[in-house]
Amino acid sequence: MGKPISAEELEIIVRAVASASHSLSDEIRRAGLLEHILGQEGNVNVQGEAQQKLDVVADRAFINAFLDCGIVCGIASEENDEFVAFDHEPSKDGDFVVLFDPLDGSSNIDVNVSIGTIFSVYRRVSPKGTAVTLLDMLQPGTEQVMAGYVLYGSSTMLVYSSGNGVNGFTLNPSTGEFCLSHPDMIMPENGRLYAMNEGNIQECEQGLVHYIQYCQSRDNQTGMPYSGRYIGSLVADFHRNLIKGGIYIYPAVPASPEGRLRLLYECNPLAFIAEQAGGLATTGRQRILEIVPTQLHQRVPYYVGSKLMVEKAMSFLG
Ligand code: AHG
Ligand code: MN
Ligand code: MN
Repeated sequence: MGKPISAEELEIIVRAVASASHSLSDEIRRAGLLEHILGQEGNVNVQGEAQQKLDVVADRAFINAFLDCGIVCGIASEENDEFVAFDHEPSKDGDFVVLFDPLDGSSNIDVNVSIGTIFSVYRRVSPKGTAVTLLDMLQPGTEQVMAGYVLYGSSTMLVYSSGNGVNGFTLNPSTGEFCLSHPDMIMPENGRLYAMNEGNIQECEQGLVHYIQYCQSRDNQTGMPYSGRYIGSLVADFHRNLIKGGIYIYPAVPASPEGRLRLLYECNPLAFIAEQAGGLATTGRQRILEIVPTQLHQRVPYYVGSKLMVEKAMSFLG
């Protein structure tokens, strides 16, 4: 990990995330009532996916919050082709870059199912006083100084780590404050839940097919079979597994040969939190946090969750 973020700097970033997510949470709660919120925006993002209106609203809210906080000098977001260098004072000389998925689980927006925001914070590697570069964005996940997510579920929660454990805060909608509701979150070492889009199973590598068969096999001693749980919003599936114990898998499939999830905006931040909570995150063969990124929108296969479950799944892959 790079030089740790100071308590003051951490507070500034947390305030920026809390303020953007509080207003976004209000918009999401009223989504069915507001015409500018539901449905497709009409654009296709750099990933080739149809942008939802709320993807764009969320993206703007977080960009503005980071721009205004004064210590972030640039951002990269899943919804933008290129990274953005903040070029005015005081942001331009900020020490940090933030990479984020402004709205995760877009396909669940219109159907009132939990969605989220995922973010990752790094120290810039380029010298202060110069514009941020692509290299500031392409750092391995081990260099994260902070990472977190916001879950817009039946309550809104902010969960983050700055490298010293994981804490969860729940939004009190009447005061707008996030209250520490889940101190020192630990992911159970083992669990009984597996999450994967099993519609893809016939197209997966044989080792994974066998692991899923293992999850479904009966063993009265261990309480197997495991229960299948797949929300289709990574943040929500991850959060459930963080609390209850479980594994989430998004493998390489023919339609997404590198996997579907994005290393910088989704996999690295949640891998950081998983490890900080005692869990594991790998591609099935390699630790996620050690991958040296080569592209902003790079995708990777993803196995994340309870340590023993991820290790077991990997043992099937060879
Ligand atoms: P996003 O909405 O940011 O594009 O991410 C969607 C991701 C993730 O949240 C989810 O787990 C996965 O894509 C769902 O993919 P499938 O519909 O292929 O299962
Ligand atoms: Mn996402
Ligand atoms: Mn998204």
